[in-house]
Amino acid sequence: MSFFNDTPLLPDDPILSLPILFAEDPRPNKINLGIGAYKTADGRPLVLTSVRKAESQILQKQLNKEYLPIDGDEGFLKEALQLLFGREHPILQSKTIVAAQAIGGSGALRLGGELLAKLVSKTIFLSQPSWSNHKQIFEKSGLNVGSYPYFDPKTYQLDFAGMCEAIRNMPPGSAILLHGCCHNPTGLDPTFDQWKELSALIKQQKLIPFFDIAYQGFGQDLDQDAQAIRYFASQGHEMVVAYSFSKNIGLYGERVGFLTVIPTRPDLVANIASQVKFLIRCNYSTPPLHGARIVAAILKSPELTQEWKTELKNMCERVKEMRKALIAALLVKAQDKNFTYMHHQSGLFSFSGLNSDQVLRLRKEAAIYMPSNGRINIAGLNTQNIECVAEALLSVM
Ligand code: LMR
Repeated sequence: MSFFNDTPLLPDDPILSLPILFAEDPRPNKINLGIGAYKTADGRPLVLTSVRKAESQILQKQLNKEYLPIDGDEGFLKEALQLLFGREHPILQSKTIVAAQAIGGSGALRLGGELLAKLVSKTIFLSQPSWSNHKQIFEKSGLNVGSYPYFDPKTYQLDFAGMCEAIRNMPPGSAILLHGCCHNPTGLDPTFDQWKELSALIKQQKLIPFFDIAYQGFGQDLDQDAQAIRYFASQGHEMVVAYSFSKNIGLYGERVGFLTVIPTRPDLVANIASQVKFLIRCNYSTPPLHGARIVAAILKSPELTQEWKTELKNMCERVKEMRKALIAALLVKAQDKNFTYMHHQSGLFSFSGLNSDQVLRLRKEAAIYMPSNGRINIAGLNTQNIECVAEALLSVM
């Protein structure tokens, strides 16, 4: 007899279980295209030099370890908002904005989800497909989760018409989750003109946009990747944004992100901020120090910012090169097939269209690891493994 007699076993997480399975695999030629983390040309994790320098500055200052305020470090938030919106954005001048440090992008999503469920909406709509953690985060936040078409499996393109049609049918007052750039898992984003249409439609339908942005700088560049969010904010939407520094500053395990909420009434800022702080306080009390200190140290220093931007650009360029190289390798081996759709995908991922059986075959037969939805982490490719990956992909296609 146990008090836990009725405890069911849950399945492993489809993404975070992969590094563990990968580490346990004894095959020397194994290839990790799973978790969305950048890898160097020789397949290793990368800690940016700008991060190392920021850490050594922090260490030299011999700072104390007192608790941060509930909503996090003020200097970090100021810099982070300026990075997201650009220094001159009217929303920052207006001060009609609430922001709080969060435990990575996931923590920000959960906070935003709970805030919406408590005060604003009972339903959120997600793209089909979306990041596998979105649905459960929002369900645990207390929201009903619906979906809208996003990926057209026939053309491998964005199903923009289907998306718009679904938006027209969403009940007013619902929330809609949008990926600010580098859509996870498809790598497909609306064009800027399509974002403008979406903004008008979402406003007309009286929906609250909730942006998840985890890859700023991995698509086009830091400014262009934020243009959808900046545009929506300039159009007077009440909106929510969850931001992650896991990828663009490579701070994965440090868990650094933030939540920002933009109301249309300035007199509501204090009330909303009080609600966000309450959610944080009764969840994890206050956020962690170290990652926020690194981000603030980089963004406050023009030299470190410049160095970080160059490093980010280099990571992004390598991913772009690997995407091109994969397409080329596939084309050489299968001239009758069309892979041009992959050129339209941006960010860390390529959506291969493989089903879970094919993904499992790749794992068993070729020691290639990816999530069961067929998402490829392009950053896991390098000149040594790309031929082998192309061959294996074609063998199960
Ligand atoms: C991913 O999508 O692979 C990353 O965001 C890691 C995660 O937490 O799932």
